[in-house]
Amino acid sequence: MLPDRISSFISDHIEDFTRELVQFLAIPSVSTLSEHSDDVLSAARWVFDQLERCGFKGRIYPTERHPIVLARSPEVSGAPVLLIYGHYDVQPPEPLDEWHTPPFSPDIRDGFIYARGASDDKGQFLTYIKAVEAVLGAEGKLPINLIVLAEGEEEIGSPNLEKFLVDHRDELRADAVTISDGSQIAPGSPAITYGLRGLSYLQIDIRGPRFDVHSGVFGGIIHNPAQVLVDMLQKLKNPDGTVAIPGFYDDVLGLEDWERKEMVSTPADIDALMNYLGVSELTGEPGYSVTERSTARPTLDINGLWGGFSGEGAKTIIPARAGAKVSMRLVPNQVPERIDQLFMRFVKDLCPAGVSVEFKGIHHADPVLINRNTSRMLAAERAIESGFGKKPRFKREGGSIPVVNLFRKHLDQENILLLGWGSPDDGVHSPNERFCLDDFHRGIRSAAALFYEIAR
Ligand code: BES
Ligand code: MN
Ligand code: MN
Repeated sequence: MLPDRISSFISDHIEDFTRELVQFLAIPSVSTLSEHSDDVLSAARWVFDQLERCGFKGRIYPTERHPIVLARSPEVSGAPVLLIYGHYDVQPPEPLDEWHTPPFSPDIRDGFIYARGASDDKGQFLTYIKAVEAVLGAEGKLPINLIVLAEGEEEIGSPNLEKFLVDHRDELRADAVTISDGSQIAPGSPAITYGLRGLSYLQIDIRGPRFDVHSGVFGGIIHNPAQVLVDMLQKLKNPDGTVAIPGFYDDVLGLEDWERKEMVSTPADIDALMNYLGVSELTGEPGYSVTERSTARPTLDINGLWGGFSGEGAKTIIPARAGAKVSMRLVPNQVPERIDQLFMRFVKDLCPAGVSVEFKGIHHADPVLINRNTSRMLAAERAIESGFGKKPRFKREGGSIPVVNLFRKHLDQENILLLGWGSPDDGVHSPNERFCLDDFHRGIRSAAALFYEIAR
């Protein structure tokens, strides 16, 4: 249900809301780069200021790295509590020369807003604040108690959030949590997400001679760290693309028949996908559909690789060092820490004498499966139907949101609504990231409707 007055208020103010989205997106809050720390703080202040203007009370809490915003709406006694989570940090925008307009100068064209963070997650998160503004503007008061928890470290694995949740348990008690940090099935086909993949992300560092040495003088008598690295990486996968680490699949929860049937009944648009990606063929685990491969089966990917000389021209050396960043997307019931151990043991055993291998854990997220049969899910379904004019379908997503299992673990929170307003072709983490302004509008409508549906 979305009262008409609110619906009109949103339509009448959508241009103001969009202007504020432009302001938010102009802050280069890249959490992984320390030179952007002040920008991450500015984004926190921007969010907090927005909330204060809606009458919320709270604080910006410093952490060891980037701050956390926690604020609460004025008490509506007897009404349920909905906790809204979002993140105001973004991924690095590089490669810059592939952007048609600069990543932090938001540009509106053809109904989309282009900027880093447009869809992931500033645009989606802002829908809730604008929904609050619209409800207050149209009705003068909220039907529900809201808590907003926004962090600036999601894109670096939420390293300080766990402690924060534990320390602030009581202030975070809620009847349900909503997170809009994912996507619809396709533009105009909204979805509720009930599964996310987990993540185990490591760095491998190989060291050989104490410095780069002449490959003519020393070639043939020592191991080359770059060669050792690629040999190891090559052995991580079987020829059919499955992961070769012993035990990797042991804890994988297979798909149920009904779930496979449901996934087959909404097949991915392969041509559209290939066209979006600019590749002429898709690949993946034998025996599984594209949807299963990208959301419900585990993977291993090299995210970055270095070693030796890659500048212009030639330099005949054996490099002293080589390295790689490798991530594994996990599914229920794989445990990131256990997968790390299996990975490290396997790689270590492949390392010849005379070179050393070291590992650095980069980050972790637990895989997620959420019960679809709850009254809160039904409330979310109705809210999305009011906002998008169409019933949502259920889906799993391949990305990871570390906070989800932290809510379960530390707050006993099982009512977690993952309501992505974005679209799979928004280009999250890619150059020319964008968010459809219609989705921004429909997201605000759905968020406002959710306040009423949860309160009902
Ligand atoms: N919003 C994404 C996760 C996502 C993407 C969920 C698409 C559903 C669909 C989130 O910001 C993200 O990028 N998470 C990281 C997690 C990591 C840094 C721990 C990821 O998935 O790589
Ligand atoms: Mn995100
Ligand atoms: Mn992201």
